Amino acid sequence: MSNDTLTKILELARWAPSGDNTQPWRFEVLDELKIRVHGFDTRNHILYDYDGHPSHIAHGALLETIRIAASGFGLISHWNISSGADDRKPCYDVSFIGSPSTAPDPLFNSIEKRMVQRRPMLTTPLTSQQRQALIDAVGADFEMQIFESGNERMQVAKLLWDSAKVRLTCPEAYPVHKEIIEWRARYSKDRIPEQAVGVDPATARLMEWVMQSWSRVSFFNRYLLGTIAPRIQLDFLPGLRCAAHLLIRPKSSPVCLEDWIRLGMSVQRMWLTATYHGLHLQPQMTPVIFRWYARSNRHFSVRPELFDQALALSNSFELIASAKQSDDFAFFARVGISQAPRSRSIRLDLENLIKSA
Ligand SMILES: Cc1cc2nc3c(=O)[nH]c(=O)nc-3n(C[C@H](O)[C@H](O)[C@H](O)COP(=O)(O)O)c2cc1C
Repeated sequence: MSNDTLTKILELARWAPSGDNTQPWRFEVLDELKIRVHGFDTRNHILYDYDGHPSHIAHGALLETIRIAASGFGLISHWNISSGADDRKPCYDVSFIGSPSTAPDPLFNSIEKRMVQRRPMLTTPLTSQQRQALIDAVGADFEMQIFESGNERMQVAKLLWDSAKVRLTCPEAYPVHKEIIEWRARYSKDRIPEQAVGVDPATARLMEWVMQSWSRVSFFNRYLLGTIAPRIQLDFLPGLRCAAHLLIRPKSSPVCLEDWIRLGMSVQRMWLTATYHGLHLQPQMTPVIFRWYARSNRHFSVRPELFDQALALSNSFELIASAKQSDDFAFFARVGISQAPRSRSIRLDLENLIKSA
């Protein structure tokens, strides 16, 4: 394989999604047929990176993107975890084998088109072809539960509304929100640009001002109903205005790093399949993440009432999904038809993602 082909594969791989666009990976070229992916996670400073699992899901999405990208150049790729047990800094070795008879994966052209849509979408129902394609895309190890009716979407919208209250009043989440938004931007290489957040320009200006300090945020939340406008725009309305909500449930509990990687591969196939079928998607992971905290009895905030709210959220989520407390929820998203967002996260340049040996 030429250097040029490897560069093209890595250029495409960069477009894999990661929570808050953190891109928790760096590439090392070992030889012309082998690369090492140096993964990392952000659990030390990002509340949502529960035990690093959202980053691990992103690693899986990246490895699946590499596989699909390689297929476009007549290559098969294999990966294995090459590091020890430390899942804070996992390494993955990826080898490429020439296979001229390999056809490009049908999802190849969706790699660069896929992007998150955080704004309200049309409520046009999924076609049976779209629904089946999404169900098939998650693969045999996962089940997909779909919430489609007006009543189900209303229940999920209320869940998102409650989850957003925890998110916006949690002092531990504040530094994350402050850091990850690139204000007044349409594109961002390493964060989320303001215009892709999903609020109107006036709310964005207010948020920028309020989020300068936690004391401003808590004053606003307490006395001026500060969570209302963002919760309506970012959670409740998008929760109603979509075709469906999708919940991926693993058939057996993820216990090791590889299980989370396989989940990430499944998530990326599902997201690319949505793109292929003309749909947009937004992950909405906070109810899942607060449930991870609540069900493992981990008190994530100095404000004890937030843990109680996370427990209540978990109960509601389980009611909506007809699930037991011990059932695993792994990935939650909404899908629908919409115009392509005019603002999006872009990526670090490849030269900044490649590290030398
Ligand atoms: C594991 C994971 C969790 C995510 N959680 C959320 C979420 O809760 N809300 C959201 O709006 N986007 C979420 N995203 C989407 C990322 O923010 C998005 O993929 C990233 O900013 C890059 O943007 P792009 O997908 O448009 O390329 C998540 C993505 C991944 C991979």
